[in-house]
Amino acid sequence: MVNLKNKDIISIRDFTIEEILYILNMAADMEGHSYPELLKGKVLATLFFEPSTRTRMSFESAMKLLGGEVISFAEPGATSLVKGESLKDAIKIIEGYSDIIVLRHFLEGAPRLAADTISIPVINAGDGTNQHPTQTFLDLYTILRAKGSLEGLSVGFLGDLKYGRTVHSLAYALAHFPCQMFFVSHPSLRMPVDQLEELKERGVKYSEHDSFEEISHRLDVLYCTRIQQERFADPVEYEKVKGTYRLSKGLIEGLKVKPDFKILHPLPRVDEMDESLDETPYAVYFQQAKSGIPVRKALLAAVLGAKEL
Ligand code: CP
Repeated sequence: MVNLKNKDIISIRDFTIEEILYILNMAADMEGHSYPELLKGKVLATLFFEPSTRTRMSFESAMKLLGGEVISFAEPGATSLVKGESLKDAIKIIEGYSDIIVLRHFLEGAPRLAADTISIPVINAGDGTNQHPTQTFLDLYTILRAKGSLEGLSVGFLGDLKYGRTVHSLAYALAHFPCQMFFVSHPSLRMPVDQLEELKERGVKYSEHDSFEEISHRLDVLYCTRIQQERFADPVEYEKVKGTYRLSKGLIEGLKVKPDFKILHPLPRVDEMDESLDETPYAVYFQQAKSGIPVRKALLAAVLGAKEL
């Protein structure tokens, strides 16, 4: 019996396969249905210390669609944090104004610290290069919708595998099913060694590559990511790797990809994925972003104890 009431969502590692499937099923159950009373009287606080379009707005939209209210800041510079208030103190104060907190922070571990500090649920909306668990739920939801199953897929990861928190979370989750993984990146942007060790210990078959073309024919799904300029301490290092990969309709059509091959991307994109791909049957990334609504509705409803399957 799965019960996620009052559960913090900090890392995908904190979820069993049963809990993951429960949320995916609840999202499917809620998609397209209206629940204007479900979270009436509840308040969500969204606290974003890094920029966001999809995560913040889809959480806020989901809360409103469930009848709840939202308080928010996306400009920490306009809060009393600039006067020297600590994150712990700010979180304790906001606990008194809300029923649940969604927090994005540039420091790995900040959402865990917040969850350990207060008693209302905390949801990690991305902490540095570490984890982005709610993105993983919607990535899994999109793959399930596109492929009909999560079992035994061949999944490629392309781009910034070193700093990409969405990659780190998704690879861990897909190991449950289990999937074969192909990690494609510039040599300086490989998956962190500790994460590869973890996959190996869990029995995942994986390989590392420089070239997407050499493994494209083997993939059911490609998870493409942006090379994140903002994560590089040295701009010279970014200049060395920027533009390394550029997917386009012409490139994909020239390769022997599987007929039902699908491309996901957490977005935003910069130059790694050409707009010519958007109208191809391979592209599911806009659908993926849209799935933020049913998935985050399910997460809010489950954690606030308002709905069960
Ligand atoms: N995918 C994602 O996290 O997008 P945002 O940074 O716009 O929230």
